[in-house]
Amino acid sequence: MTDPNQPIEALLAEKRVFPPSRDFHEQAIVRDVAIYAKANKDPEAFWAEAAQSLDWFQKWDKVLDWKPPQARWFVGGKINVSHNCLDRHVATWRRNKAAIIWEGEPGEERVLTYADLYREVNKFANVLKRLGVKKGDRVTIYMPMVPELPIALLACARIGAPHSVVFGGFSAESLRDRINDAQSKIVITADGSYRRGQIVPLKRNVDAALQGCPCVESVILLRRLGETASIHVQAGRDHWWHRLMADAPSYCQPEVMDSEDPLFVLYTSGTTAKPKGILHTTAGYLLGASLTHKWVFDVKEEDVFWCTADIGWVTGHSYIVYGPLANGTTGLMYEGSPDWPEKDRWWALIEKYRVNILYTAPTAIRAFMRWGEKYPNSHDLSSLRLLGSVGEPINPEAWMWYHEAIGKGRCPIVDTWWQTETGMILISPLPGITTTKPGSATFPLPGINADVVDEAARSVPLGGGGYLVLKSPWPAMARTIYGDQDRYVEVYWKRFGKNVYFAGDGCKRDEEGYFWLLGRVDDVMNVAGHRISTMEVESALVDHPEVAEAAVIGKKDEIKGEAIAAFVTLKEGSTASPDKMNELRQHVVKKIGPIARPDNIYFAAELPKTRSGKIMRRLLRDIAEGRALGDTTTLADPAVVAVLRGQYEEG
Ligand code: PRX
Repeated sequence: MTDPNQPIEALLAEKRVFPPSRDFHEQAIVRDVAIYAKANKDPEAFWAEAAQSLDWFQKWDKVLDWKPPQARWFVGGKINVSHNCLDRHVATWRRNKAAIIWEGEPGEERVLTYADLYREVNKFANVLKRLGVKKGDRVTIYMPMVPELPIALLACARIGAPHSVVFGGFSAESLRDRINDAQSKIVITADGSYRRGQIVPLKRNVDAALQGCPCVESVILLRRLGETASIHVQAGRDHWWHRLMADAPSYCQPEVMDSEDPLFVLYTSGTTAKPKGILHTTAGYLLGASLTHKWVFDVKEEDVFWCTADIGWVTGHSYIVYGPLANGTTGLMYEGSPDWPEKDRWWALIEKYRVNILYTAPTAIRAFMRWGEKYPNSHDLSSLRLLGSVGEPINPEAWMWYHEAIGKGRCPIVDTWWQTETGMILISPLPGITTTKPGSATFPLPGINADVVDEAARSVPLGGGGYLVLKSPWPAMARTIYGDQDRYVEVYWKRFGKNVYFAGDGCKRDEEGYFWLLGRVDDVMNVAGHRISTMEVESALVDHPEVAEAAVIGKKDEIKGEAIAAFVTLKEGSTASPDKMNELRQHVVKKIGPIARPDNIYFAAELPKTRSGKIMRRLLRDIAEGRALGDTTTLADPAVVAVLRGQYEEG
């Protein structure tokens, strides 16, 4: 969480600039800056022209129906996402082009051409239908990073069943809540997956989750680990993927979907303990994902594109699955961890598959930076021609390291700002025309009307900071929070009016209009690029029978951006100890998942509160980060802080 008023002069004083090289500019897909003016002049005409790139069963009657805060795009259009990602490619020479190059963590390799992917998706779509999945039914997917994961997504899209992918790092309880919220009839999973040489027990988590999910009728179980996995298969409910596929018919007619029919739900954290099911629809989302994939990454027919995200997050949805496949791109997909078996795994993959475009997160870049240049230097990275960053602000040092150690000074960097809710990249350089500055996401893309405003919703002049907002709709924007339209309006469309989307991020603009993202302005943490709510972790902690009260903050961390620090008061009769600390950490892992494990748990006799009883998180952050304490005059009992701080320093 950031105070948008904090001084960031150091950032804005960044004087290094990187214009595109002449060579890059000349070969780029987007070469003409006039594209911004054209899009601004008539945004609807701009998006309508762009939408010609998709294959429609029936064209739309109206580009945009905007009744703030509700947008409908390409009204009346009929389209199918899986048809766009597969059928139209297999009808051309791309039939035998690699769609997905996959490598498992233990080293297995698979290449699926567009024809292979088409066949598998058609068959799996028929499998889903045979299990009773119909248009509009939700399907929860909890799978490893294997080709069957995009196959499952595309099969859902083919039959019009919205998918809800749950990241494998979430616990059984988190999975259960998401299944129940979406009311899924089917869960697709695997016997397990590999992570850093360890086995992730996906099926065991599903079994535990399903004890509280009466809506689920069937589980489809992929064999990933094989004989070594000791799993329970429940007769009647659980079906092996390979058995179902063995006699599935090889063609499934794609469902004719309305532009505004739901494509997927993806849960993300907000400021309350309950995750939000962000709902995306069909045509606008596909257009946004595919167009930005092509323009921002300058993707050419022959490129190998590698987005290192997990498909459990929106980055994987838009830039592993939908954007690249709609564009007929060859994508690399890797199952495991960057440091397994050695810290050079990614660079080895780039060398081996001659990856041209790499899209990753600052947290990974900072980890590589710490590990040192000997790892990238031991591989031939000359195939790389463009580098991308996403998920959190990239500090200028990490940007420069990425540029020099990985890009060898040749590759433009696109720092892309967006969110689960935006569906597509909104603020980013266009690499053939934008002069970049290390640490800035530069400018809103053509057709995107972003602004920085103050508390009173007034636009802040260049040079100043405030809240990042979007003042016009865009095609891939979320349409609602699944099952909770009121919350959707409340969270995003109220603070600055019903015409203005509030992103939840602080932002400054320099005198040249460059956007510098500052992080969240709400109680959402960004831990190693994962969005986690302080409230979620707090409620997991107070769920423990011995915890009386908990306050959680994101503490600055050199690698992860933010680390989770929890301040806990125990109930009478319980005593603080290192064992108790581990027990509480484990409790959070059980409730939410390993990604939310607190780095520090600090026991306190009392938490600092204002006279009105609000926990003063700012003070806790000051304590956790070892800063001089700010103003404590509103504190009910200033002695609490002194005691806390003394203990913290000892600990
Ligand atoms: O705070 C911003 C940060 O990540 C948040 C969105 O998280 P999520 O929905 O999980 O999506 C992440 C991947 C799109 C934003 O509100 N964020 C994302 N990209 C950037 C960023 N912050 C600064 N710079 C970025 N490039």
